[in-house]
Amino acid sequence: MALSDGGLALPEAGRIAVFAPRAGAELAPLPAGLCHVLTGFRPDHDHFSALGHACAVEPEGRYSAAVVCLPRARTLARDLIATACDVTDGPVIVDGPKTAGVEAALKECRARTAVSGPVSKAHGKMFWFTPATGQFDDWRCGGPAPLDDGFVTAPGIFSADGIDPGSKLLGDTLPRKIGARVADLGAGWGYLAARILERDTVETVHAVEADHAALSCARRNLPDARVQFHWEDAARWRPPEALDTVITNPPFHTGRDADPALGRAFITAAAAMLAPGGQLWLVANRHLPYEAPLADNFEESVEVAGDSRFKVLHARRPSRHRR
Ligand SMILES: C[S@@+](CC[C@H](N)C(=O)[O-])C[C@H]1O[C@@H](n2cnc3c(N)ncnc32)[C@H](O)[C@@H]1O
Repeated sequence: MALSDGGLALPEAGRIAVFAPRAGAELAPLPAGLCHVLTGFRPDHDHFSALGHACAVEPEGRYSAAVVCLPRARTLARDLIATACDVTDGPVIVDGPKTAGVEAALKECRARTAVSGPVSKAHGKMFWFTPATGQFDDWRCGGPAPLDDGFVTAPGIFSADGIDPGSKLLGDTLPRKIGARVADLGAGWGYLAARILERDTVETVHAVEADHAALSCARRNLPDARVQFHWEDAARWRPPEALDTVITNPPFHTGRDADPALGRAFITAAAAMLAPGGQLWLVANRHLPYEAPLADNFEESVEVAGDSRFKVLHARRPSRHRR
């Protein structure tokens, strides 16, 4: 709509940076060969790579235009807009649903520069502007920084302000003996992997995380030769050898909505990663229905700890058909 009758014109040549599109976003109206998809989230990266788009985690060089697919977190949204302004010689196009705060973003951008549009459809809006140098520099957010306890986190990643109470509960519940080969699925900035490494009997910890920024923090938080870092979709990743234990505080949100399908995919994947006598330790918000997928994928499963908010579930012996 913006290109056909909304007044938006793309430069005739040069690459177009597309910041943080989520899998399923429609990039077809943009000239495919010129798009450079920039995302640190591995499933989105895999999705757009499979469609034939060039993908990277960070901008590379300069662009003739940029599209920012607005994330929900305001600091991240501002950071992406500022980054786009920094690397783009032509229009910066901001696209997002109301739920991502696109109206507030429009208002804030209008206060700083001449904005064209918006073009509105359903619950979304798109607007664009050509920024002057440095006009949005103060929107850049700081990089990784240490918490009081020394762990390094970064804006926008899970539990950036401190240790997640669910993960703390799981860390405190784990027994001393968990075997030699362990994986932490959705390892975030590495808290649970750090707890796993307290055990001398652990020989390998696979820290599997889809968010590139979170995994970069984990690399700094886990300076231990036993850790292998994997920027991967945990639902698809498979270990080089069968594991003794999988530990996870699985993701439970897609965008705004709670999505237990993600946790279910982690449970199925964990069962496929484990040796016949292997075990899974999982913490989840109490209302999330993981008991059925655990019963479906493991011979035994039981709640071993919990409070009003969280439950720690322990499952053993993946069902033969699941491995
Ligand atoms: C509830 S957080 C737990 C983080 C960390 N283990 C902790 O305890 O602080 C879930 C993590 O899973 C990551 N994640 C989301 N989808 C993923 C996927 N498909 N594959 C791997 N990790 C994913 C998120 O980025 C987030 O860091």
